[in-house]
Amino acid sequence: MSVHIKTEEEIEKMRIAGRLAGEVLHVIRPHVKAGITTGELDEICHDYIINTQKAIPAPLNYHGFPKSICTSVNHQVCHGIPGNKKLKNGDILNIDITVIKDEYHGDTSKMFMVGEPNIKSARVTKVAHECMIKGIEMVRPGVHLGDIGYAIQKHAESNHCSIVREYCGHGIGRGFHEDPQVLHYGKPGTGIQLEKGMTFTIEPMVNAGKRHVKLLSDNWTVVTKDHSPSAQWEHTILVTDNGYEVLTRVPGDEL
Ligand code: MF3
Ligand code: CO
Ligand code: CO
Repeated sequence: MSVHIKTEEEIEKMRIAGRLAGEVLHVIRPHVKAGITTGELDEICHDYIINTQKAIPAPLNYHGFPKSICTSVNHQVCHGIPGNKKLKNGDILNIDITVIKDEYHGDTSKMFMVGEPNIKSARVTKVAHECMIKGIEMVRPGVHLGDIGYAIQKHAESNHCSIVREYCGHGIGRGFHEDPQVLHYGKPGTGIQLEKGMTFTIEPMVNAGKRHVKLLSDNWTVVTKDHSPSAQWEHTILVTDNGYEVLTRVPGDEL
């Protein structure tokens, strides 16, 4: 495993890519309503990334992924492929945006609610957000990755939710998925220690039911085995001298 420590020049490029990714989530929000299809959301994001941001949507053709964003609805955990299904009142969905600008990646995702979701869906959305925040707030030099995973897992499980094990956060930079793997579960004091200049994502996938998942026959969409709703939030983080900087945060936005 080789974890690349970013130079100040690289960090500046990652700030730009990160902000662009965050801005796409901002732009798409007013369109997320009952009746629109996830395919239409993909088209809006694709057009904005290419024509306004002059950037590249990283998922498109990544290991054969056919669209520019991932949209994961209800019991879909991650890597949902946008298509012709319409959103309906009560749906929750994750929209995951990764852009490449000047060769560097920014990767972020948020949950969106369509109308009034049921209590279970609203709850897992809230717990997943709290898990991401708890993980982010632990980031500083010297902390072990296992400390972060443990904090995230503990919060999910103490709220009667579960953490998906098969997918994790990742180093990011010139590569979409670099070392290290950032597990959202683990034991304190294990794993590598963080150093200033590392950049990685924290993106816990939290299920309202059991943690087990399966892959659909499209070979991308991951769903919960028990069909319980699932939620995920993601930011790209920089380790600073004494803490962290959230590279995908848009000024004025909440995390
Ligand atoms: N953006 C996802 C992540 O957070 C990866 C999507 S890969 C794709 O790592 F091919 F499905 F787009
Ligand atoms: Co990611
Ligand atoms: Co992502």
